[in-house]
Amino acid sequence: MFITFEGIDLSGKSTQIILLKEYLNSKRKKVITVREPGGTQISEKIRDILLDKKNLNMEYLTEFLLFSSSRHQLTKEVIIPNLKKKYFVISDRYYDSSTAYQGYGGMIELKTIRYVNNIASGALTPDLTFLINISIEECIKRKKLMNKTEDRIEQKKVSYFNKVIKGYLQIAKNNKNRFVVIDGTKPIQEIHSEIISVIKSKVKI
Ligand code: ADP
Ligand code: TYD
Repeated sequence: MFITFEGIDLSGKSTQIILLKEYLNSKRKKVITVREPGGTQISEKIRDILLDKKNLNMEYLTEFLLFSSSRHQLTKEVIIPNLKKKYFVISDRYYDSSTAYQGYGGMIELKTIRYVNNIASGALTPDLTFLINISIEECIKRKKLMNKTEDRIEQKKVSYFNKVIKGYLQIAKNNKNRFVVIDGTKPIQEIHSEIISVIKSKVKI
């Protein structure tokens, strides 16, 4: 099963991925977790270029194609081989991130995004996608608590992130068969239980 987590930064994706991995391991399931951009030696190098604050003059299309290149490498090198070995593959972001950030964020036409996403993923679609939804105000609150420094993408404006949040909700609406939208302001354990019950409704664990 290929499970992806989506949502703006600090929505709680990594927290939930760790809990889910622990749960599945406790049920003796084979699990591999990956993150985007990154997850392979080549993809991590692409990640460094994408998040580097010095790369301020990066063209939007360059940015999108770099995310897509990182994704393609990760898909071929890690995701597909592990799905073939019957692992649960859990990814922190996948191509819905490009649709939300680069597409609904307003940089690249959605038609182009869909076309390239399909090529980069080799037409692989997640079986299940959890969208952890928080507001930009909640994100800012968490950022302050964490004293987090911002990477190149996180330095963009509030209006941009609001477009990304709206975009994510639209993508979820358009893909109801695989999307589950979760209120990210609920307590961590409550979200975890919700995630487990959704997975249990799909596969035997
Ligand atoms: P992401 O991977 O989406 O960037 P993280 O899992 O790293 O997000 O969480 C970002 C911050 O928010 C962390 O400090 C984490 O402890 C906190 N956090 C995660 N889930 C919740 C939640 N449901 N309620 C409140 N804080 C949360
Ligand atoms: P993220 O996983 O949030 O990194 P970190 O855990 O260090 O915050 O991802 C990095 C950034 O890249 C994040 O702001 C979202 C953005 N992003 C896109 O704009 N498009 C994409 O296709 C992907 C995968 C990520």
